[in-house]
Amino acid sequence: MKKVNLGVLISGGGSNLQSIIDHIESGRLDARIKVVISNAPGAGGLARAERHGLKHLVVNHRDFPSREDFDQRLVDILNENEVELVILAGFMRLFTGVLTGAFPGRIMNIHPALLPAFPGAHVWQTTVDYGVRFSGCTVHFVDQGTDTGPIIIQAVVPVLGDDDADTLAARILKQEHRIYPRAIQLYAEGRLKIEGRRVTVQPLDKSLDPDFLINPPLDN
Ligand code: GAR
Repeated sequence: MKKVNLGVLISGGGSNLQSIIDHIESGRLDARIKVVISNAPGAGGLARAERHGLKHLVVNHRDFPSREDFDQRLVDILNENEVELVILAGFMRLFTGVLTGAFPGRIMNIHPALLPAFPGAHVWQTTVDYGVRFSGCTVHFVDQGTDTGPIIIQAVVPVLGDDDADTLAARILKQEHRIYPRAIQLYAEGRLKIEGRRVTVQPLDKSLDPDFLINPPLDN
């Protein structure tokens, strides 16, 4: 299987980066991380990249006069490193058409909610405060909007009565670590087809249990 070249953009701890690294190293993901870029100096994910011998660098957005200039620098580095698929893994910058235009249909993001619910920032607290019974995480292709692109895969978790933002975030993060490598593998296998807003996985999988999830559970 041909390996897909990844460029991973991070801003923080990089646990999703770690999961992608682990899946690659254990042979479960046909990908190669060509470069890890952080906009935040000192981001924990940089140390993870270092430990695994991956090329990593800081491109500090503060050093650029505009968002477009910052994005252009990212595009240049990604192209120099022959990146085919851009992975946003806890990358906390809004991007411009410079980035999305350079990699149309070739940027993925993970978001800690069931999009299109709860886009943007401060997601976990907003989710708990709203009182929804389920939340989860979404991997989607990136388009011009914030958290609006075609959805590839989602995982659902219950929101429990005594949850706070931290306990909910931890429950969701576990599932993030499972679905992001899966989405990338489906891409690597050439199985994702984007038609308008809909992404289909080829061949279609009929194994999903069609029963509903209910929370709180029914008596019987
Ligand atoms: C993850 O929960 C990810 O879904 C979220 O940031 C966290 C990064 O964790 N991303 C967003 O909120 C993007 N809008 P990590 O650095 O440990 O992978």
